[in-house]
Amino acid sequence: MTSAALRPLRAEDADELARLEALVEPTPWTAKDFLDVLKNDWRGRVLEADDGSVAAWAVVMPNLDEAELLTIGVRPDLQGRGLGRAMLDEVLRLIDGENRICCHLEVRESNLRAIRLYETSGFVRVGLRKNYYRTADGRENAVLMRRENGGASC
Ligand SMILES: CC(C)(COP(=O)(O)OP(=O)(O)OC[C@H]1O[C@@H](n2cnc3c(N)ncnc32)[C@H](O)[C@@H]1OP(=O)(O)O)[C@@H](O)C(=O)NCCC(=O)NCCS
Repeated sequence: MTSAALRPLRAEDADELARLEALVEPTPWTAKDFLDVLKNDWRGRVLEADDGSVAAWAVVMPNLDEAELLTIGVRPDLQGRGLGRAMLDEVLRLIDGENRICCHLEVRESNLRAIRLYETSGFVRVGLRKNYYRTADGRENAVLMRRENGGASC
């Protein structure tokens, strides 16, 4: 995987991204959600595998001088090989380059892999939303996390 494989999200990715999201997310984004990223001028990034197929993706929503990481995922057969970290590094570079003072996100409390990834990339826990997400047999909490750019506070 090379840095040349990282590129902006395109309209023609929408169906494939929706298919992949459904494999990794309990409440997946739809193709329309991905098309709305372009319509709203949010930041979408795709990491291509060597054969040109989608390996990983992420979407960031700018919000005044802050940003929110809305979704990030890696194709199931390619997880655990550093692609999630590469994707997160890319969007954090993007956010820092736009001088956004911080980045927020929400993550399921049970998603220890993602939480570990975020914590090792500078995110800290700043709150908890009780029973925020649906699960197969009930509800679970959302952990709220924030990473500050250059030590600024928000
Ligand atoms: C979460 C996700 C994006 C991580 O991507 P990945 O490519 O699998 O992860 P990476 O190989 O880049 O590993 C990144 C870090 O995750 C953590 N991690 C990876 N595998 C882990 C595991 N089995 N248990 C705990 N932590 C783990 C480690 O901190 C790792 O960093 P390290 O390799 O420096 O130790 C990916 O697994 C995914 O798509 N999961 C389903 C969708 C999802 O949960 N998205 C986030 C919603 S908030």
